Amino acid sequence: MKHALIKRAAEDILRVSHVTALTGAGMSAESGIPTFRDKGGFWERYDPEEYAHINTFYTAPEKPWQMFKAFEMQVKARPNAGHLALAEMERLGWLQEIIAQNVDDLHQEAGNSAVIEFHGNFRRAVCLSCGAYYEIKNISLDILPPRCRCSGVLKPDAVFFGEPIPQKAFMQAVEATRSCKVMLVVGTSAIVYPAADMPAIARQAGARVIEINPEPTSLTGWVSDYIILGKAGEILPALVEELKKMAL
Ligand code: OAD
Repeated sequence: MKHALIKRAAEDILRVSHVTALTGAGMSAESGIPTFRDKGGFWERYDPEEYAHINTFYTAPEKPWQMFKAFEMQVKARPNAGHLALAEMERLGWLQEIIAQNVDDLHQEAGNSAVIEFHGNFRRAVCLSCGAYYEIKNISLDILPPRCRCSGVLKPDAVFFGEPIPQKAFMQAVEATRSCKVMLVVGTSAIVYPAADMPAIARQAGARVIEINPEPTSLTGWVSDYIILGKAGEILPALVEELKKMAL
């Protein structure tokens, strides 16, 4: 069954000229970064209202920074077999871009160049006073919140709850979603909007929507055409093998 669906996905991809992937936390689970909503996930340890809302950032910026500091420990994480498979798909012309909800930079590290950072990127911080950007690895997190040379408070360049999606990323994502003919939805529960809208928009515009996830999601059975049940690090490399077998 699983192999038949992987074959079907490869056929669907080879039939079209524009494939977009929408990825979520499950993509990096096999790199050792916990997801948000699975058992043991981030939101079990950190109440998002308390740690990840923009209002908290303005009143008590050290709190979100404590959470991001814990996340930073895992920034040593390396791309897994799923990330590498998506990079290979881009290299071979079978994937045009990724709409990434993750802020961990692992797609870029794996070699993908067309990555739309829908929720920003935690590897950067921005000064709320003067707008200067810093690479997280170049700033000390010993005293929180970290501050800019101008003494302004630094904020991780990731989207907080209550904040809008960065305009350019949003426009690029909508454009990709409307023009793709296949959308691969990998490792996301698809319950955080507006990212979760993208598969339905793609489907409405005529794309085939294929999920890769160990569990059914809120899209399964109505927005997505089918789901390949399994881990990203298992299914995506198998999909690349199948694509190569069929096309090369
Ligand atoms: P969730 O934690 O909501 O969902 C993770 C999904 O990954 C679930 O559907 C799991 O079944 C699936 N999963 C787990 N392990 C997997 C694996 N090895 N391979 C493939 N899938 C796997 O995370 P997201 O959907 O990414 O927003 O959450 C969306 C947004 O909510 C995040 O970007 C973040 C969070 O609040 C912001 O920070 C703004």
